[in-house]
Amino acid sequence: MTHLGDSAPGSDTRLAPRAWLRSDAPVQSLDGEWAFRLHDADPGDDVDGPPPFAAIDADVSGWDRIPVPSHWGLHGHGHPTYTNIRYPFPLDPPHVPDANPTGDHRRVFEWHPSFCAGGRTLLRFEGVESLATVWVNGAEIGWFTGSRLMTEFDITDHLVDGENVLAVRVHQWSAASYLEDQDQWWLPGIFRSVSLQGRPANGLDDVFARGDRDPATGAGTLDVRPRGGWPVTVRVPELGIDETWTAPSEIVPLTIDAVDAWTAETPRLYDVDVSTDAETVRLRVGFRRVEVVGDRLLADGRPLIFRGVNRHETDPDRGRVFDEEYVRGELELMRRHNITAIRTAHQPPHPRVLELADELGFWVVLECDLETHGFWDVEWTGNPADDPAWRAACLDRARRTIERDKNHASVVMWSLGNESGTGRNLAEMAGWIRERDDSRPIHYEGDYGGAYTDVYSRMYPTLEEIASVCGEQTMPVHEIGPAEGARQRAKPFVLCEFAHAMGNGPGSLADYESLVEAYPRLHGGFVWEWRDHGIRARTDDGTEFFAYGGDFGEPVHDGVYLMDGLVLSDGTPSPGLGELAAVWAPVTLEHLGERSWRVRNRQHTLGTAHLELQWRAEDDGIPVSSGTLDLPALAPGDEGVIELPEIPDATTERWVTLEAALREGSAWAPAGHVVSRAQAQLHAAAPRPARAATGGWRGDALGDAVFDRRGGLVRWRDLEVSGPLPELWRAPTENDQLDGQGSYETADPALTHGRGDEDTPASSVRWLERGLDRLQHRVLSVERSDDGLVQRVRSMAAHSAQGIETTFSWRLDGDGLRLHTDIRPFGPWDCTWPRVGARFGLPAALAGERAHWFGTGPAESYPDSAEAAYVGRFAADVDALGVAYGRPQETGHRPGLRSLDLGPLHLRAVASGSTGLPGFQLDRHTAQERTGVAHAHELPPSRGLWLYLDAAQHGLGSRACGPDVLPRYALWPRAVSWTVVFD
Ligand code: GAL
Repeated sequence: MTHLGDSAPGSDTRLAPRAWLRSDAPVQSLDGEWAFRLHDADPGDDVDGPPPFAAIDADVSGWDRIPVPSHWGLHGHGHPTYTNIRYPFPLDPPHVPDANPTGDHRRVFEWHPSFCAGGRTLLRFEGVESLATVWVNGAEIGWFTGSRLMTEFDITDHLVDGENVLAVRVHQWSAASYLEDQDQWWLPGIFRSVSLQGRPANGLDDVFARGDRDPATGAGTLDVRPRGGWPVTVRVPELGIDETWTAPSEIVPLTIDAVDAWTAETPRLYDVDVSTDAETVRLRVGFRRVEVVGDRLLADGRPLIFRGVNRHETDPDRGRVFDEEYVRGELELMRRHNITAIRTAHQPPHPRVLELADELGFWVVLECDLETHGFWDVEWTGNPADDPAWRAACLDRARRTIERDKNHASVVMWSLGNESGTGRNLAEMAGWIRERDDSRPIHYEGDYGGAYTDVYSRMYPTLEEIASVCGEQTMPVHEIGPAEGARQRAKPFVLCEFAHAMGNGPGSLADYESLVEAYPRLHGGFVWEWRDHGIRARTDDGTEFFAYGGDFGEPVHDGVYLMDGLVLSDGTPSPGLGELAAVWAPVTLEHLGERSWRVRNRQHTLGTAHLELQWRAEDDGIPVSSGTLDLPALAPGDEGVIELPEIPDATTERWVTLEAALREGSAWAPAGHVVSRAQAQLHAAAPRPARAATGGWRGDALGDAVFDRRGGLVRWRDLEVSGPLPELWRAPTENDQLDGQGSYETADPALTHGRGDEDTPASSVRWLERGLDRLQHRVLSVERSDDGLVQRVRSMAAHSAQGIETTFSWRLDGDGLRLHTDIRPFGPWDCTWPRVGARFGLPAALAGERAHWFGTGPAESYPDSAEAAYVGRFAADVDALGVAYGRPQETGHRPGLRSLDLGPLHLRAVASGSTGLPGFQLDRHTAQERTGVAHAHELPPSRGLWLYLDAAQHGLGSRACGPDVLPRYALWPRAVSWTVVFD
C-alpha cells in the first residue's frame, strides 16, 4: 500500500530518532551500486503483497544501475526541476498527481549474525527524497518521509545468514512534498548514505551531551544524558573526568572548575567518551552558553553577531550528495572571507557538516526541513503549518532534527523552518524543542508577532526598517500591531536573510554592516546565499554550462532565481564575496590623518595577538616603503591608535595600504592571509603641465591616430579601431531587471510583485522603455584645428525627446593624443542611467592580451560595492576581467582608472578640477549583445574587443529580492567629463 496521500510522517516501525553518533558498534555501509529503474508514474499498490521486485528471487537483470547515494535526475533518469515558491504539482493537499516519478532501488547484501552478535541490526537511511517504502527479503519494513532527516528501522528479525535483498521504492512526490517547498531543485533519490548499524545488547542508543560554561567564572558543566544500557561511564581525560553511573537516578551534571570556551573564533573541543561495557561513543563537546538577555543574544557572555551566509547543499554534479572534501573547501573559503556563521537553509545538512562546523568554528542556526511557501499564493488556506492533520508530521520533523544534531557546539539556535506562514503546528514544534533542549533559543522568521520564538527575525528589510526596529520607531513593525511590535522590539534582532547575492551584487553590504555597528540590538545576519545552484550541463555541441530552471524543459519553473550565490556554481568566488570579506573584516583600520590609524577589534572572542600589520606606501602604484608593525593588544570591542613610521614626502600620487594578516597558519588559511585591508591617499597626483604639440595633421592622421571625415577614430598605430561612441547602456544585472520574487523570466512590469513599490518598475524596464539600449547618434559637427579635432554628437532613442550631447575633443600635445570627453543630458529625463561613458572598438586580437592597469582592483566594483576595491597596479587576462555570472549581464567595471596598457595600446587618465577619473571595462561583447541572453554560450559570435570608458555607473542594489539602489548610489542624468591621453 502506498502512502502518497498520507500526511503522517511514516510508519510506526520507524525507531525513535537519536543523535548521529560516532560509536565503536559495527557499521556496514550499503552505499555503492544498486539496481535501479524509474517509472514515470506511480505504479500503484500491489494488491497481493509486496511489489515483485522486492522479492528475493526477483529478476532485475534488465534494470539499470545507479550509485547510492545519488539523485536519479543527475544520472540520466528524468531530470531536476526548479521552483521557488510554486509547487510543481496541483495544490491539492495532501494528494499528488499519479504522474509521480518513482524509482525502484534494489541491492543484495551479505549479513551474518556475527555482525552484531547478541544485538540488533538497524537499517539506517540518512536522506531520501521524498517518500521511501522499504522491504527486506520481501517483507515490508516500513515507510518514511522527511527528505533531509535520518530514519532507522530494526530489521534484525527479517535478516538471514548470507545474502539479503533490500528493496526501496522512492516516490518523487508525496504528501510530504507539501512540507518541502524550499527554493531549490526538487531532486528525488536516495541521496545520503544507507547503512546497517549494529546495536549491541547493553549498548548506548543515544547520548545527549551539552557543555555549558559560566562566562563570569569560567567554570563548566557537562550534562550527559545517555539512553540505553547500564552502567554508563563518562570520561573526559583532558578534564580529569571519569565518572560511572549505575542507574538513571545517579545522573548528575558534572562540574568543572575551569574550562575553555568554544566559540566560532576559538573552536575548542573536548573529547568525551561515553561507554557501557558493550559500546563506546566518542563525542567532541564544546563548552559555551548561549542566552537571550533582554534584547541581546549572548554567547559566552558577549554579544553574538552573525556574520553569516545561508548555505544550501548544492553541488553542480552531485546535487545534495555529500562530499567531504568539497564541503571542507566551502567552509574554509567561508572562513577566509570572514564568514563565521551559517544558517542551514532550509534543512539540516549532512551531519558531517556540523562536525566540520564544530571544528572550524561557525555559529550555526540549524533549520528544520520545513517550508510550505506555495500556500502563500492561496492566502495560506490549508497551510500544513496550521492544520491539525499535519501536526504529527511537523512535530516529527522538529524531533528528528533536534535529536540528530543536538550534540554540536556550533549549533547555537534552532530554526523551525522557513516560509511556512504561521500556525499552531509551528508553535507546538517550538514547545517541544523548548522542553527537550532549553540551551538554545528558537528562531522562525514567519512568527512575525513573536508568539513562540525567542529572537525577532526578518528577511530583506530595508535599512530604514532596521533603523526603525532598533532605534527611533519611525514605522510600524512589519505586519503586526503595536503590542506585538513592542514585544518584538524588545528581543534580539536578526536578519535571517539579507543582501540577495544574485548576479552582479549585492549592493549596500557596507550600509547594512554600519547598522550592525550602530545598534546593539541588531545581531547581524545571513547573506542570501552562499552558492549558485547551477547544474553542470552540456549543449548538443559539448559546450559546458550551468543549467538553471527551465533548462531541463520543466513546464513550471522559476528560471534563474536560484543563481543567487556569493560563489558561482563552479565554486568561483564572486566579487560580492570579496566585498563581504572587506565589510566583515574582524579588525577595522581607519586613517585618522598623517601617520595615525585607529584599529578596532570587532571579534567576539579573539584579541589581536594572532594578527600582524603590514603596511606599504606606493607612489604612482610603485612601492616606496613598507614594513610590519605589531598591532596593539586589543580585547574584543576595544580600539587603539597606531602610528606608522615616518617616510619621505611624496611628490606624486601616494597611497598607504595597511593589511592585517594571520601571523600563523590556521585550519582555514595559511600564515600571511589578509583578513583586513584599508587605504588612505596621502598625496594627490601632481598635475602634469600640458606640453606643446609635437606635430599636426598629415592628411587624416593626427599623431598616431587616423580619423574619418565624421570625426571617428579609425586607426591607432597599426590597430584598426572605432569609436568613441557615447553609451548609456549596460547589460541589466538581475537586480536591475527583477523586482522581488515575482518576475523571473522577464522584466515585464505586468509580472512584478516585488517587495518594493509596485508602481515602480524594475530599473531595466524603465531603461528599455526609454530606449537607452538603442541610442541613435547624429554627428552635429566636426572641426579640425591645427593640432586637434572636436566632434559633437547628439544621442537619442527613437521617439524620445531627451538625450545626451557629447563633445569629444582630441588634441595632440607633447604627452600624446589627448581626448577630453564631455557629456551633457538634455530634455525631460525621468529615469536613472545604467552608465554614462563612451565605447571604443578594438581588434579582436587584443582580447588575447593581458591588461595591466593602475587604478582600482583587483575585482570589479560599483558605487555601492566598493569596499574591497583598492588603488594599485593590477594585471589580468582580458577574459578574466569579467565574471561568468549565472547569465550574461553587466560585469567588469573598474572605476578610478589612472592608466591602462593592453598590448600596443597605452592610455592614461588625467583628473583635474571637476573632471574625474573614468572607469574602464573590456569585453568581447557589447552591452547590447549581452542583454537578454540566457546563458553565455548563447551570446552571438564576438565582433571584436570593446573598451568602455565610463564617467560613472549606477549602483547595484539588491532589488531582485530586497531594496533597490539607494539614492546616494543612483546615477541620475548629469553632466560628466573625463580626459585620457593615448601615448
Ligand atoms: C526568501 C527565501 C529563500 C529564497 C530567497 C530568494 O524569501 O526564504 O529561500 O527563496 O527568498 O532567493
